Amino acid sequence: MNKILIVGACGQLGTELTIKLRELKGKDNVVATDLRGPVDLIADGPFEKLDILDKSQFHELIKKHEIKEVYHLAAVLSAKGEQDPQFAWRLNMESLMTVLEAGKDVLKKIYWPSSIAVFGQSTPKQNTPQNTIMDPNTVYGISKLAGERWCEYYYMKYGVDVRSLRYPGLIGYKSLPGGGTTDYAVDIFHKAIAGDSFECFLKEDTSLPMMYMDDAVKATIDLMEAPSENIKVRSSYNVSAMSFSPAEIASEIQKFYPNFSIKYAPDFRQEIAESWPSTIDDSIARADWGWKNAYGLSELVETMITHLKREIVFD
Ligand code: NAD
Ligand code: SER
Repeated sequence: MNKILIVGACGQLGTELTIKLRELKGKDNVVATDLRGPVDLIADGPFEKLDILDKSQFHELIKKHEIKEVYHLAAVLSAKGEQDPQFAWRLNMESLMTVLEAGKDVLKKIYWPSSIAVFGQSTPKQNTPQNTIMDPNTVYGISKLAGERWCEYYYMKYGVDVRSLRYPGLIGYKSLPGGGTTDYAVDIFHKAIAGDSFECFLKEDTSLPMMYMDDAVKATIDLMEAPSENIKVRSSYNVSAMSFSPAEIASEIQKFYPNFSIKYAPDFRQEIAESWPSTIDDSIARADWGWKNAYGLSELVETMITHLKREIVFD
């Protein structure tokens, strides 16, 4: 059993991935780390404060816990990245290089997520292929594209077993998103359940690729468990589950809350969203390691509402 360390474990994805990995591998084999926290949901297992920009602290923890696998999730996301592009570049790139370097000797496997943000204005918007034009226009997208190239480079040059997925917008009920362009698709549920109307920062017909968190966690673990010879893409795999616009998700929510209302006040995130694909071709992930999503839009909406309502009742 490889002992695992998760960087950025208190974030939207990290919280859920930590819970699942501990369930599968045993609590003591999964060390959660973050700048902040621990958040309540992951406070039941090993936790260390870590600033991933502090290389020596990272190496000390790898040594102390005899870590062989790292899931590196810490990043500044698309919308937040535009507030301080220099810092977003520094955090997203420097941290990846630290982890990749550790892959040359001490680590056996690394997971690092990319994003649909690697695509840009000139990328085909429908059924975006695995290999296509990539001209991202956010610092986040540029850092993810550069990161993908570094991952492939470290695999080809040094044999580092690093694996990656280009997630679409992730939607879950256990944790809140941290500064992305797809965050509205989580926030909308919290408003609907509270009986409030929702002001959306994207236009009503802006369709983006999205994924329910359980599917994202499953894709991640399936990719990491797949035999190395099945992983033929060493930059990052396209993965997809559903696509919808704000108007489409609102109308699905109205099936549960007929009085729910939405209005639109697009801001700077509209331009980011318009540069991203609407739908993704993930046939290579499906063929190489058997990726398959379980949730579409109606299952997502029903699941989110059921769980969030339950949480409010118990609070
Ligand atoms: P998030 O912002 O919710 O969480 C990131 C976590 O990293 C936070 O808990 C934060 O405290 C931590 N962190 C920040 N700086 C740190 C540092 N210096 N050292 C240690 N920890 C630090 O992000 P997320 O949504 O959970 O995303 C996780 C990863 O998945 C990111 O790489 C992101 O680019 C990628 N991704 C996410 C989505 C999505 O929709 N959430 C989509 C595509 C890709
Ligand atoms: N959900 C992420 C964002 O909006 C995509 O990487 O930034």
